[in-house]
Amino acid sequence: MGAVQRCTDGYELTDIGTELVGQVPVFRLWLGGYASVLASQISSGADPATGVHGGIVAEASAAIGARYLDDTIGNVLESLRPEGRICDIGCGTGARLLRVCRRVNQPGIGYDLSAKAVEAARDTVDEARRIGVDIEVRQGDATALTQDHPDVDIVTQAFMTHHIAPDEYCAAVLRSYRSRFPRARYLVIFDTVPSQDSEEPEMFAPGFDYIHALQNMEPRSRGAARRMFTEAGYICREEVELAVPNSYAWVLDMRDREGAAS
Ligand SMILES: C[S@@+](CC[C@H](N)C(=O)[O-])C[C@H]1O[C@@H](n2cnc3c(N)ncnc32)[C@H](O)[C@@H]1O
Repeated sequence: MGAVQRCTDGYELTDIGTELVGQVPVFRLWLGGYASVLASQISSGADPATGVHGGIVAEASAAIGARYLDDTIGNVLESLRPEGRICDIGCGTGARLLRVCRRVNQPGIGYDLSAKAVEAARDTVDEARRIGVDIEVRQGDATALTQDHPDVDIVTQAFMTHHIAPDEYCAAVLRSYRSRFPRARYLVIFDTVPSQDSEEPEMFAPGFDYIHALQNMEPRSRGAARRMFTEAGYICREEVELAVPNSYAWVLDMRDREGAAS
């Protein structure tokens, strides 16, 4: 149950919401009054160049995924009947990669830019070894992958494509995957787009919009994402709406080219 619920003329606080409102002075005391003291503590461990805690992003993202997304994402990937290795770019802790590989009985490889995320993925790799799933996670930048992977059948990229900008550059990066993964059949992109006017009170979309604005990033809209896939030469076979607000799965065909005679 959340903090608010619908009533006839809008929303009202639930019991939990009423309890939370009573605690607002405590939140203000610790998080407001001592904000700078907290910030100096928290900033140790963040990447000095970006201010981002890669390990926390990876772990929190995996937990949100496990709660809201992974069943749907597993269904989408299983429907493609994977016939080889699955490569997850920007894999975070690799938890989803492990879950998917186990479900479809295929090996996996993950890449993530953040050393802290790759460190957090060690537990996943250990768990995979224990249960007999072939998974490895490497540190690597999606925009500069150097190794070719002819054994990869499906490439996935979850909740990070909006970090690759502007559109022409992102299109060039996505196009380069055809060389890195020469036998892959599908590139499946999961991502969030900026919010439209929301019907429901919720926390994810305002946080997504606010954090990216603080980083001077402007995540692309759903239409812009689809145009960018076309510019990269991919045909979008399917679009699936996900349970996290404003989030979609796009299944892109890596074999047929946009504009090519079939
Ligand atoms: C929001 S998290 C999502 C993690 C995971 N895909 C998930 O869905 O739970 C974004 C991840 O993308 C990684 N990332 C961002 N830019 C990247 C790049 N250029 N190459 C590889 N990984 C990148 C970040 O380090 C982070 O772990």
